Amino acid sequence: MNYLKIFSPATVANVSCGFDSMGFALDTIGDEMTFTKTQKKGVTITQISGAKLPYNVQENAAGAVVQKMLQETKAPFGIALTIHKGFTPGSGLGSSAASAAGAAFGTNQFLQKKYTNLELTKLAMFGEKVACGTEIADNVAAAIFGGFVLVRSYHPLEIIKLPVPKKLRVVAIHPQIEIKTQDAREVLPKNIALKDGITQWANVGGLVSGLYTDNYQLISNSLVDVVAEPARKALIPFFDSVKKNALKAGALGAGISGSGPTIFALCEGDEIASKVQKVITETYSKTKIDFRVFNSKINAAGIKIIE
Ligand code: HSE
Repeated sequence: MNYLKIFSPATVANVSCGFDSMGFALDTIGDEMTFTKTQKKGVTITQISGAKLPYNVQENAAGAVVQKMLQETKAPFGIALTIHKGFTPGSGLGSSAASAAGAAFGTNQFLQKKYTNLELTKLAMFGEKVACGTEIADNVAAAIFGGFVLVRSYHPLEIIKLPVPKKLRVVAIHPQIEIKTQDAREVLPKNIALKDGITQWANVGGLVSGLYTDNYQLISNSLVDVVAEPARKALIPFFDSVKKNALKAGALGAGISGSGPTIFALCEGDEIASKVQKVITETYSKTKIDFRVFNSKINAAGIKIIE
């Protein structure tokens, strides 16, 4: 194989109650990346479109991952990489994760699929560290495994792939402002009250159970975040109105996608998803802030080979 083109999905991390430990992949929004085998060893990034990102391999979430994998395996070839960003960095939709996970997955195809999905997740976490300073697994694992994932443990890393109820849809609104993950992590509480811990872990259990049993009411009851959302929502203009209106229109729940500013709403079925899309569009149209709205299925397969 000398050439490969892949689609690496955007992802929603945290899913309200599962801060740093849950995530899911979107179906239509993501990056396209190409990999071309070169005789010259090492990595070259030949084109980046859709966003301004560093061409320097060590500073690029995707480039750094490809380089690490080629070095680790002492590959007798190199890879030329192009990255087309389908959504903006700093959106809260796992932009660096899509690139890092895509890089790990794509490079693995040239290495006879030597690495397991868990190993690819670890490599992609290294890419996340290059991009935002922290080795977080929720976005990259969702992109690599597809569907919903639970990061059951970081040390050692353990990822559980969860089922996707068929009628589940996600509507997301991305206000065109940038929030850096690092900044959104600085506003988080250093400690939480025991009662908040109890609320949070009970809801994670409820959400996981709801996903396994197609219990939309239980999913809805469990989409509550008393840890990150109260601290972060002030960074997102009109968060409360969007959430209130999405719930009024029938969303199962709504919250901050990853570290924001994207706000996501989970819905049961296309009809409710369309209603939610309409009301959140109306809500933001009244503001002076530009925005993009997405309405997507959950991507159960994760990263896909396109060519
Ligand atoms: N779980 C992370 C956070 C996702 O909320 O900070 C962003 O990478």
